[in-house]
Amino acid sequence: MASECSRWPMGLIILLIGIFTLPGIMASYSIGVGIADTTGPIAEIVFMGYAKMEQKGAGLHLRTFTRSFIIDDGEQRFVFVSTESAMIGHDIKAAVIKKLQKRFGNLYTEKNVMISATHTHSSPGGFNLYLLFDLSTFGFIEQSFTALINGITTSIIRAHDSVVPGQIFLDHGEVFDASINRSPLAYMNNPKNEREKYKYDTDKTMTQLKFIAADGRPMGVINWFAVHPTSMNNTNRLVSSDNVGYASILFEKKMNKGSMVGKGEFVAAFASSNLGDVSPNTQGPKCEFTGENCSADYTCPGKKEMCFASGPGKDIYDSTKIIGKKLYEESMKIWNRDSSKEIKGPIEVVHRYVKMPGQKAEFYNETSKETIEVETCQPAMGYSFAAGTTDGPGSFSFSQGTTTTNPVWDAVRNFVAAPTPEDIKCHGAKPILLATGRMRRPYQWQPKVVSTHLAIIGDFVLVGVPGEFTTMSGRRMREKVASTIEEVTKVQPTVVIAGLCNTYTDYIATPEEYEIQRYEGASTIYGPHTLTVYLKQYQELALAAIQKKVINPGSPPPNMYIESLISLQTPVLYDTSKWGYDFGYCLSQPPKIVKPGDTVTVSFVAGHPRNNLMTGSTFLTVERLIDRDIWVKVATDADWETRFHWERKNSILGTSQADIIWEIPLDVKPGKYRIRHQGHYRYILGGIFPYRGLTNVFEVKEK
Ligand SMILES: *[C@@H]1O[C@H](CO)[C@@H](O)[C@H](O)[C@H]1NC(C)=O
Ligand SMILES: *[C@@H]1O[C@H](CO)[C@@H](O)[C@H](O)[C@H]1NC(C)=O
Ligand SMILES: *[C@@H]1O[C@H](CO)[C@@H](O)[C@H](O)[C@H]1NC(C)=O
Repeated sequence: MASECSRWPMGLIILLIGIFTLPGIMASYSIGVGIADTTGPIAEIVFMGYAKMEQKGAGLHLRTFTRSFIIDDGEQRFVFVSTESAMIGHDIKAAVIKKLQKRFGNLYTEKNVMISATHTHSSPGGFNLYLLFDLSTFGFIEQSFTALINGITTSIIRAHDSVVPGQIFLDHGEVFDASINRSPLAYMNNPKNEREKYKYDTDKTMTQLKFIAADGRPMGVINWFAVHPTSMNNTNRLVSSDNVGYASILFEKKMNKGSMVGKGEFVAAFASSNLGDVSPNTQGPKCEFTGENCSADYTCPGKKEMCFASGPGKDIYDSTKIIGKKLYEESMKIWNRDSSKEIKGPIEVVHRYVKMPGQKAEFYNETSKETIEVETCQPAMGYSFAAGTTDGPGSFSFSQGTTTTNPVWDAVRNFVAAPTPEDIKCHGAKPILLATGRMRRPYQWQPKVVSTHLAIIGDFVLVGVPGEFTTMSGRRMREKVASTIEEVTKVQPTVVIAGLCNTYTDYIATPEEYEIQRYEGASTIYGPHTLTVYLKQYQELALAAIQKKVINPGSPPPNMYIESLISLQTPVLYDTSKWGYDFGYCLSQPPKIVKPGDTVTVSFVAGHPRNNLMTGSTFLTVERLIDRDIWVKVATDADWETRFHWERKNSILGTSQADIIWEIPLDVKPGKYRIRHQGHYRYILGGIFPYRGLTNVFEVKEK
């Protein structure tokens, strides 16, 4: 009997050894994937992205996650991280690396970890240590900062723990009707012969990597498609990962049958690219009241009438769903295709810190047919920055394309810090609104040292850029890097721009787009030749990588995490429950009988959500009875079909209410249901305590 038992495992072991040792057939790399909850404080914190102080969190629609991917060729390890956040700052990455090094020694470094933000505009801000980015969020918010660091670190640890031999496949697709150029005037100022090389004024290509374990198990997918996650506009107050986040959820749900959102093994990232001038609001800009086209300079006739873009759906939820679904469907189509090419070959990663002001490069002017030496400037923001974009009009009464100065703002600007004559000259077409590079009080306003990052995996190249490249800036960068590598290897690589990596320095428009001073040009902070300098810098990185040359890694920016960071956000002082009720008491019950397609709304006596972020957990569950006493979760606060609204009812008494909305899916299983709310309250005499509440049981019946 004993020998019978041991025969099978032995055979299996031999089989497995066989698979893993066949060179290059079943496993070209070691690969790993991981996902972790990154949701920050969902209540009362201003969202990052639209810079609108009234846009404070009031609950949760979709939790935000971080997705990490490890690729290792046996000698070099590379980690790509896509985090559902507006941006990422140097200090966050530094803190993540520090945590990883405590655990893994020098396995993970600033060089081999690339962190890219998806750029959702519906998550809490205040995590950036440069003052300009925290101006609209009442300063630094420790909880936002920590949630990002913990979520990113956990996702990398999970990816680390999942590493197995595997293969990576590369393929492309195209997505139409999901993006428009939001600054076509600026785009049209690019040289005609360059524009004629392209059919569209935004990139329609989706580039995708498929991760398959050596045993055939699908592990994950990353794709890059250039579009702003701004389907949710600046009136939204529920935390959301927006269109790309919804696409990730759809893909992961399909692959992780039976798992709750964010809990499955398969990980799908819809990562950011050269989205600078790309809007998902495909109906284009219209005047707020009349619904007519805006004028050529994006203004409307009415005095206080805004010009903004929306669509394709009937409201922001519908639009987010439509764009997210389009991205998901193309991604799944690419996934199911057999033609994918396997990526093979060594990994090379290069990283360099560059002090941007004062960098020199050569620029060929298409109009004058001259090559001139150009230089980058001290950071500064132009007037059109204050006007916002057609995805989110600014709170100030400036119009985009402003190239004359305004005396009121000049006064404010001079009070803050006056630009020097050199700044004014250096920034050329940009009238300076904020000379952020000259502002040191109370601490730095915008970064001067940026991270430049490039990874080569076989003949796939990822260019990690520290901001939002416009469509044409991205094209120039891809072309430059591809031709540099091809010259050496004689093989044309696939080059992808990974957007908003490691450091955030606003936009990078082409020098020609810059002259038009739309929002993107006005927010190109190191002056007209920011891109020109980056092209040279990344060319050097590509050459160093391909020739395996060591480059000077540069000096990191100063550590900004100091105690003098301004924080004006009031903390949660205490919670009390409504007179006579306990926390978790259900104030408004569901109807006894509902049907698929209905919306159920229930309310509870609640504590403040900032008392505990419920990381990796949920503020709510929808539960179904499957046996006498056995309830199973069918949805959490991370699902599309639920929304969690929170409101402080009385700030002196400290009472609050949570409303939970469940949009019952059409394919719901009929049966008995209930909704649970859980959270924490801060006791007036100290301490934070958990509470929970349940609705009555209700029945979902087919009509
Ligand atoms: C409005 O703008 C769109 C897109 O540019 C254009 O096709 C349409 O003709 C314009 N409509 C009017 C009434 O000007
Ligand atoms: C935002 O979207 C809502 C709902 O779709 C709409 O009513 C509102 O006018 C939009 N506002 C802006 C500034 O885009
Ligand atoms: C190129 O040269 C023309 C003619 O001198 C000039 O008007 C234009 O501003 C230059 N373009 C850039 C991007 O510097």
